[in-house]
Amino acid sequence: MKYYLATYGCQMNEYDSAMIASMLEDVGYYETENAEDADVILVNTCSVRKKAEDNIYARISQLKPLKQSNPDLRIAVLGCMAENHGAKITDTLKHVDFVVGPDQYRGLVDILALPPSKSPHRQQPKSVLVGFDSAENYDDNFAKILSPFSTHITIQRGCNKRCAYCIVPFTRGIEKFRPVESILAEVQKAVDKGVKEISLLGQTVNSYRYEGNSFANLLSKVAEIKGVERLRFTSPHPRHYTDELLWVLTHTPQISPHTHLPLQSGSNDILKSMRRQYDSEDFLAIVEYLRASDPFYGVTTDIIVGFTGETEEDYLQTLEVVKHAQFDHAFMFAYSPREGTEAFDWPDSISEAEKHRRLQKLIDLQNEITRQRSQNMIGREEKVLIERPSPKNPEEWMGKTGNFKNVALPADFSPQAGDIVTAKITEVRGWTLRGEAINL
Ligand code: SAH
Ligand code: SF4
Ligand code: F3S
Repeated sequence: MKYYLATYGCQMNEYDSAMIASMLEDVGYYETENAEDADVILVNTCSVRKKAEDNIYARISQLKPLKQSNPDLRIAVLGCMAENHGAKITDTLKHVDFVVGPDQYRGLVDILALPPSKSPHRQQPKSVLVGFDSAENYDDNFAKILSPFSTHITIQRGCNKRCAYCIVPFTRGIEKFRPVESILAEVQKAVDKGVKEISLLGQTVNSYRYEGNSFANLLSKVAEIKGVERLRFTSPHPRHYTDELLWVLTHTPQISPHTHLPLQSGSNDILKSMRRQYDSEDFLAIVEYLRASDPFYGVTTDIIVGFTGETEEDYLQTLEVVKHAQFDHAFMFAYSPREGTEAFDWPDSISEAEKHRRLQKLIDLQNEITRQRSQNMIGREEKVLIERPSPKNPEEWMGKTGNFKNVALPADFSPQAGDIVTAKITEVRGWTLRGEAINL
């Protein structure tokens, strides 16, 4: 049996897809890169913004002809949209057989063994498997390792915050932490396979706690495992940067000098109505601490503009914080009201055109900062983890610096994916640095 798996959304969905791949392969399925060849098509979905959902609905609709030409094909919708919309998906997209939410993947193998629905009017009675399970951490299901040098490992599922705009707590449930032993065992398995870079995942990953262990303790334990050369994590929440954590981050050589620290807004009033639990001063203090340890410390972020009630003054405060923080990169979004969240019922007073004006001006500002931060890297010697040949130029290979910047290197040193080489940064080309390998 061949399965085709498409993944949308965040790294936690990517991890879940890799875990599902290993569950399916354990019972004899194998992967195809071609949806047309598949016996089973799985679409792991995201609900975070309306646009994300619209794209995924469009993609799933496009699968209809495949079902018409192969009535035995099974189509399953997984992930956050599955949890969010449940039976509405099978009602509106009649060619979808199964809907399985993030806490129900253990039931996936059995559900896929059910016959597909051959008519819109004869769907399987058990075709929708959603709902939260407070005990489900998938501790014993390690994800398939997809890259020879780098892997993600989820340590926290769900989220206990209730940011007023955010659907995630409704699609993933309350926070659950994996036991330390299970995480360390998965890290060990990855390094035994040659993986050098580990990224720990959770929606507020630094709120991790388990039987007396803090996130800082966990990082130290992972860093001690022989073979872990680069340790990363995403996404930390500004509220959970303890002094202990800041110390560990700046004193553990295996931990890469990069943090993805979501700001969301620079206005304290908006942060309050978003229920973010920090203010812009707290946020900037973290950035300053990290940059004091290393001025090239990579700091990336997420920002929402046009949240309900955001005045021009609030927006200008976001621009000010962005100038102060000097982010290396930012993901920037126009606010998208999500049904079921607290803010959905608040009047969305800002027009789409105004949201987009604000977004574009913010993007222009951040692009200039990103360019300047990259420019500052010229002349530096950086350790680069080699990832893959450049898709644009066969004579170059791509890699990443510790502070999470992409670097293209001429392939004159017989590179292999997973090598860590020292390179001198020589120029900036668009969003990519260019360098030359040295000391070989
Ligand atoms: N757990 C992370 C964020 C996860 S969602 C955190 O706390 O920061 C990823 C990003 O999507 C968020 O950081 C936010 O910037 C954006 N986002 C979430 N909900 C959104 C919405 N309703 N409209 C626009 N952007 C949203
Ligand atoms: Fe959403 Fe807030 Fe949880 Fe992040 S911390 S996932 S933004 S509710
Ligand atoms: Fe999207 Fe779910 Fe991640 S809503 S951002 S895939 S947790």
